[in-house]
Amino acid sequence: MSKTPTPLLSVRDLRVDVAGHHVLKSLSLDVAHGQVVVLMGANGSGKSTLGMALAGHPRYEIVGGSATLDGKDLFAMAPEERARAGLFLSYQSPPDVPGVKTNLFIRTALNAVRHARGEKPLDAFDFLSRARGASAPLGLPEAMLGRPVNDGFSGGERKRNELLQLALLEPRLAFLDEIDSGMDVDGLRAVLELIRQQRQAGCGFIVISHQLSLIEALEPDQVAWLQDGCVGELGGVELARRLAEQGYAKQAEARVAA
Ligand SMILES: Nc1ncnc2c1ncn2[C@@H]1O[C@H](COP(=O)(O)OP(=O)(O)O)[C@@H](O)[C@H]1O
Ligand SMILES: [Mg+2]
Repeated sequence: MSKTPTPLLSVRDLRVDVAGHHVLKSLSLDVAHGQVVVLMGANGSGKSTLGMALAGHPRYEIVGGSATLDGKDLFAMAPEERARAGLFLSYQSPPDVPGVKTNLFIRTALNAVRHARGEKPLDAFDFLSRARGASAPLGLPEAMLGRPVNDGFSGGERKRNELLQLALLEPRLAFLDEIDSGMDVDGLRAVLELIRQQRQAGCGFIVISHQLSLIEALEPDQVAWLQDGCVGELGGVELARRLAEQGYAKQAEARVAA
């Protein structure tokens, strides 16, 4: 009998409280290598909470359930160990890190990940040539690498900076929280191209988006509708079309009536 392969990411019956509020009540979701899962849901339904909880933000309290990455218990690891194991979170609102230059920030993160993978650290020179190579297709001017992280960056520039980290860190599972918000058309093209490349290399993705055109262009393996603290419905791109056409509230009413 053939054994079912372990999914890259497996979340089971996850319950998360935020500020004493039960946000995720029983969320289960699998992502396989090279898969793209689009996560949809009304504002405040807990989409970002899932990313924060997986990454280990201390304000998001895990009250039950499990999450494994490559079979390893994520919740038994410190946030930095999760990152070293290949988890990457792109924030919905990437924060400023004043006083820390972007190139040093990313090189430090990259070398920590490389160390965990048994690879040699990159010196400043090698890093800079890689960072330049990765910045150009993202439309990030090289001067940004010398500026403090996100300090004075526009919304779209912050998102491009998240993409630069994704391109350089080459994670195993990337959680992209509204990466398309604030992005112009060139930025959206860069998002699609980077996801395409990394998906081919086996990276799995959870992508949160409200834009049907982006979701369609992603050709996701699954679309998950987060509703009342759990995955209320799992489907293909037709689910995204239905939600975009009719809205979350109307669809939720229809489900209750059915
Ligand atoms: N740091 C926080 N403090 C208090 N409430 C929070 C915090 N973060 C999230 N919440 C609440 O948790 C719920 C889910 O939020 P969130 O995961 O950001 O939703 P979504 O990303 O789906 O819009 C919301 O009701 C939100 O107000
Ligand atoms: Mg959110």
